[in-house]
Amino acid sequence: MSESRVNPYFIKMFLKDKEQPFSSILATRLSRRGFVKGLGIAAGAGLTVGCATLTSKEQAAFKFKEVPHGLDEFVTLPPGYDYQVVMRWGDPLFSEAAAFEPLAQTGEKQLKQFGFNNDYIGFLPLSNEQRQSTHGLLVVNHEHTKAKLMHPGATNDCDLTLEQTKVDIAAHGVSVLEVRKDAETWQVVKNSRFNRRITPETPMRMTGPAAGSKRLISKSSENGVDSRGTCANCAGGITPWGTVLTAEENVDQFFTGDIEQLAEKRNYQRMIFSGEPEKSWSRHFERWDLNKNPNEGNHMGWIVEIDPFDPNSVPKKRTALGRFKHEACNLFINRDGRVVAYMGDDEKFEYVYRFVSKRRFRNQSDSESATFNANLLEEGTLSAAKFDDAGRLTWLPLVFGEDGLGPENDFHSQADVVIEARRAADIVGATPMDRPEDIEVNPVSHKVYVMLTKNKSRKTDQLDGANPRALNRGGQIVELTAPGGDHTADIFEWDMLLLCGDPNTCVTNYHSETTPNGWLSCPDNCTFDNQGNLWAATDGAEDFGVADGLWAIQTEGEKRGYARRFLRVPIGAELCGPYFTPDNKTLFCAVQHPGGDGSFDKPDTRWPDFDVTLPPRPAVIAIYKKDGGVIGS
Ligand code: FEO
Ligand code: CA
Ligand code: CA
Repeated sequence: MSESRVNPYFIKMFLKDKEQPFSSILATRLSRRGFVKGLGIAAGAGLTVGCATLTSKEQAAFKFKEVPHGLDEFVTLPPGYDYQVVMRWGDPLFSEAAAFEPLAQTGEKQLKQFGFNNDYIGFLPLSNEQRQSTHGLLVVNHEHTKAKLMHPGATNDCDLTLEQTKVDIAAHGVSVLEVRKDAETWQVVKNSRFNRRITPETPMRMTGPAAGSKRLISKSSENGVDSRGTCANCAGGITPWGTVLTAEENVDQFFTGDIEQLAEKRNYQRMIFSGEPEKSWSRHFERWDLNKNPNEGNHMGWIVEIDPFDPNSVPKKRTALGRFKHEACNLFINRDGRVVAYMGDDEKFEYVYRFVSKRRFRNQSDSESATFNANLLEEGTLSAAKFDDAGRLTWLPLVFGEDGLGPENDFHSQADVVIEARRAADIVGATPMDRPEDIEVNPVSHKVYVMLTKNKSRKTDQLDGANPRALNRGGQIVELTAPGGDHTADIFEWDMLLLCGDPNTCVTNYHSETTPNGWLSCPDNCTFDNQGNLWAATDGAEDFGVADGLWAIQTEGEKRGYARRFLRVPIGAELCGPYFTPDNKTLFCAVQHPGGDGSFDKPDTRWPDFDVTLPPRPAVIAIYKKDGGVIGS
């Protein structure tokens, strides 16, 4: 990676909350709440075990007026708050890019425009401390597309023309854009040298144990090291050395073929590749036909590291972090300098993972340290989580030759282990979870929060302490505590923060002061404010008849488990990517698939433009308090 990425302001900002002396940690033991009572799981499960907390500090009360439940065409915020649209699908990223004309869209135009269905948002300050919350790079994922919302007359994603397919492919991937706030509004700097589109065609490189594996040799990669593009980019994370991690999630949808005939059959079936057409990509490009290009599916399903400060950099696929349906990847610098990454595999009955780097982060901003840090994710130990009913979490290492991960189970190298991380985690005995989505570390308490979105397939004989409800429609938020703050430890403790869903129809455990508008369902992405409050975004509330949105949740003190609704998205949308600027005065959010059940021709809403010539458009918005204050306060 080039030296241009060295950004002392960024490193300083990132480490601000990480320098808390661990000697000050209070090991307060709180009795676990009686959330499992009446759920019919194993007697005694999780009822008596305490949970160490890093601070007993009372979190500041939320001062915003709660947004009521509802379902309409608008983004709704508390009184005193407003938002502006920063970027919408089709907006030009470059001065020379074409303006958005949905009836004349081409693949070439789309390559220079903002992509579809925005998910993850990362904000990386570009300027000094005075401007660190008003000038930076936004890095935004474009997770997927929906043809019927993008092309007039389209009814499904499989029958697109060649040109429509080029648009479709180019609308995936990642956008990097420089943004600055002047006076009241955020503007995209269209001629910025940082602006970039990364797509399923962008040259990339494999690093780590799978790089060069014969299982990666394909028509796109003669050596198993060079790779091409990224797709299904869901959430992600930011590294303290100023790069962005993007997570490849539902990668099965792009590939077709008769899976039964393939040498990779077991692997692809474990990743739920059906081979049935869900997209039109393989109709027009052989690359996506597994019968013609059998190993290409092994190039997708990774965490990809992008250096947004160097627009010419080649993104790196970090194979040491395993291949599965990656939701996100959030880092924590352990007190000994090792880098810890928390990751979820978002599918029913899949696992929570952790990666611990072999080498230690260098907290300096010189170019030598930057080069060293840039490769920290190349080597380390990947583990999968086993939750017991007594509040204990054991990290089970996925290491070639250990615990059944050898030739006896057809693993012949660490490359095999990371390519088939799901199967490796099966063998070591990880706990099947209710769809692990975002996992993030609270910057104040250093506890870890796991969003488990839902799992309607869990049966009564499949319950456990961390997944305690059958036919789980509401999802839950599980809290992990590293012993003594050591995030590399083999054993953690876990506790249930929230059993989500409508309390009228689900067993839940909200704080008693949570109002009838405060319940949430299907937690997906999350972030934290500077007070350590959790902000959880949802994807699935319409199942309960209300819009998705964003909730602020207290994680500590007397009001632990108190949730208050802050935002409602338009009909059909989910909310993604919540990300605060360092001063907490701007909250960037991604409104994904507004009007998702309608079509270009018959939209359920035309948010955000409300122009009869335009379809609904996924968009990144900047939320602010009208008096210029701190959000939530
Ligand atoms: Fe792409 Fe798991 O949400
Ligand atoms: Ca998600
Ligand atoms: Ca989602």
